[in-house]
Amino acid sequence: MKRILVTGGLGFIGSMFIRISLRERPELHIVNLDAITYAGNPANCAEVEGDTRYTFVKGDICNPSDLNLAIGSGVDAAVNFAAETHVDRSILDPAAFLRTDIFGNHTLLEACRKLGIGRFLQVSTDEVYGDISQGESVESDPVRPRSPYSASKAAADLQTLAYWHTYGTPVLITRGSNTYGPHQYLEKLVPLFITNLLDDEPVPIYGDGLQKRDWLHVEDHARGILHVLENGRCGEIYNLGGNNILTNLDVTRRLVSACGRSIETHVKHVADRQGHDRRYCLNVGKARQLGWGPRISFEEGLQQTVEWYKENESWWRPLKSQEFADYYNRQYAQRWNRSS
Ligand code: TYD
Repeated sequence: MKRILVTGGLGFIGSMFIRISLRERPELHIVNLDAITYAGNPANCAEVEGDTRYTFVKGDICNPSDLNLAIGSGVDAAVNFAAETHVDRSILDPAAFLRTDIFGNHTLLEACRKLGIGRFLQVSTDEVYGDISQGESVESDPVRPRSPYSASKAAADLQTLAYWHTYGTPVLITRGSNTYGPHQYLEKLVPLFITNLLDDEPVPIYGDGLQKRDWLHVEDHARGILHVLENGRCGEIYNLGGNNILTNLDVTRRLVSACGRSIETHVKHVADRQGHDRRYCLNVGKARQLGWGPRISFEEGLQQTVEWYKENESWWRPLKSQEFADYYNRQYAQRWNRSS
C-alpha cells in the first residue's frame, strides 16, 4: 500500500491518522480530500504541510469530479473520515447528515469500485449499535441506531457491506467509541467542558449525567484504523473501544478538578438531549486478536488533553467566536433555563 486517499483528513480523527501514518510509514503518500466545513481545520495538518508525501485537495466527497481530482491516476486504498458527527447538530438539521454521511459514502464507494481499489475503510461509530443497557456490543450484533446521526452512519455501514457482497469491493469497517484528545472541535463534551472551565464558565450536563460512554484517546483510535487497514480481513467490521466506561458526571468531575474549578459553582444540569442514548459499550476482542489495543490510560490521556487546550489557546480561541458562537447559542440558550 503506497498511496492512500483520506477523506475528511482536516478533522479531529482524520488529521491524527494522517500525522501518525506519515510519521510511522515512510513509504506512504497521502492525498487528503477535505471540504473544510466548520469542523475541518487546516491547522490540524500544519505539521505535514511541507511533506512531499502529503497532498491536499479541497473538495466534497459528494462531488464525483472532486473525487476524480483527488484520486488522480490512482490510489491503493481509501479511508473515509468525512462525516457530520455531532448528535446534537443532527437533531437540529438531519439533512446535512444524510447528505455527507450516506450520499458521500455512496459517491466514494462508487469511485473506489470503478477504480478497482485495493482497500476501502469506512470509519464508523459505536453509536450504530444504539443504546445498550448492559453487556457489550459485538460486531455481529444488528444495528439499532436512534439518532439522525447514528442512523446515517449505520446506513453507510450497510451500504459499504453491500459493496463487498455485491461487487466484491474490498471493504473494512471500524466502529470507534467516544474519542477525545487534542484538536477536537469545541462542540463535543470534552473540549466544550475544558474550554468553558478555562474561561470560568459553567458546563451543561444533559439530564442526570448518568449516561455512560466508552472513552478512547484519538491516538489509539487512529492507530487502530491504520492497524485494521493494514491487517484486517475484507468484508469485516472491527470495534475499537477504550475500555473506559464512565458516566458523563464522572468525566465532568475529572475535568472540573483538572481545570481547578468546583462542581458547585461550575456544573449545571440542563434539559436532556432528545432520544438520548444511555449507554454504549464495545467488545474489542476481535481487534485485539488482530493485534491492536489502546495504549493510553484515561487518566493520562485526559490530563494530556487538558494541558493541550491550556497550551493551545491560539487553536481554539478564534473558533469560539465564529460559527461555534452561533451554534452554542442555538443549542444551549433554551437549555440553561430548563434544568432537568
Ligand atoms: P458527545 O461528546 O456529544 O458525544 P456523543 O453524543 O456522540 O456520545 O457527548 C458525550 C456525552 O455527553 C453524551 O451522553 C451527551 C453528553 N453531553 C452533555 O451532557 N452536555 C453537553 O453539552 C454535551 C456536548 C454532551
